[in-house]
Amino acid sequence: MSKAGNYPDLETVYRQCSGPGGLKLAEFLADKLNLQKGQVLLDVGFNRGYQTCFLAKEYPVFVVGIDPWPDRSDGRPHVEHLMANARAWGVERRVLGVQVGLPDTRFAGASFDAIYTSTTMEMIRGAQGEAMYRTCLGELFRLLRPGGRLALGEPMHFDVPVPEDLAPLMPPGNPSWEGCFSTVDRTVESVQSQGFAILEADYAPDARRWWLEFAAYDPGCRANPQEEPRAIAVDGGRWLSFGYVIAQKPV
Ligand SMILES: C[S@@+](CC[C@H](N)C(=O)[O-])C[C@H]1O[C@@H](n2cnc3c(N)ncnc32)[C@H](O)[C@@H]1O
Repeated sequence: MSKAGNYPDLETVYRQCSGPGGLKLAEFLADKLNLQKGQVLLDVGFNRGYQTCFLAKEYPVFVVGIDPWPDRSDGRPHVEHLMANARAWGVERRVLGVQVGLPDTRFAGASFDAIYTSTTMEMIRGAQGEAMYRTCLGELFRLLRPGGRLALGEPMHFDVPVPEDLAPLMPPGNPSWEGCFSTVDRTVESVQSQGFAILEADYAPDARRWWLEFAAYDPGCRANPQEEPRAIAVDGGRWLSFGYVIAQKPV
């Protein structure tokens, strides 16, 4: 059984996680980090920290999470959600939440053995543009020890025009899907531009399943079935996907 398979309650997973994939995504990326006992992992943009706790529980690492913002639904700092979840998961001694954000984290350089970030970096691109996206990648490069790995996963689209029937259904979010999402190739270029060597990059094989799961279980999707779930259904996997980049800081 997969590690994420130990947590089959998708209602809870999608109430606590934000974005497609939930714990399956966390496992998919973390398995590519080659995590070793006693290493320190940075989780960038942990939201309620459910993935953070999963990583601390299922891998032999200490996890530091950073997230600068309060929770969108209840206004509490994300750090409070993280530590409440950490206690519930029994990993409070192996998780630390810090209320800072990219690009100005103020940690010393080379502080981390590995970095995990999912469905976060695209928000920075959407809100602040590609130049800031690259600046934030540069900060991740600084924070990683030489030889350490970065696993970045985010919603991405295939390198094709937006299908005509999808365009009018795209969520009118601010920032929009088009503002946030890029392609694997362009994301690889951005990661390389900051000095990383690329180990692996592609569209996730389960991307479509993750989006369908998100449409079925995410509370926002359930409340507004005519918005994101409809767009995901109409798209049918022609444009919308989920990509990842595994990169290494050269020794
Ligand atoms: C969509 S959530 C994903 C969280 C988590 N990986 C998950 O799947 O549940 C993205 C998180 O990134 C955080 N975030 C936004 N800007 C950030 C920044 N500049 N640095 C670090 N985190 C940031 C947001 O506050 C939000 O909690």
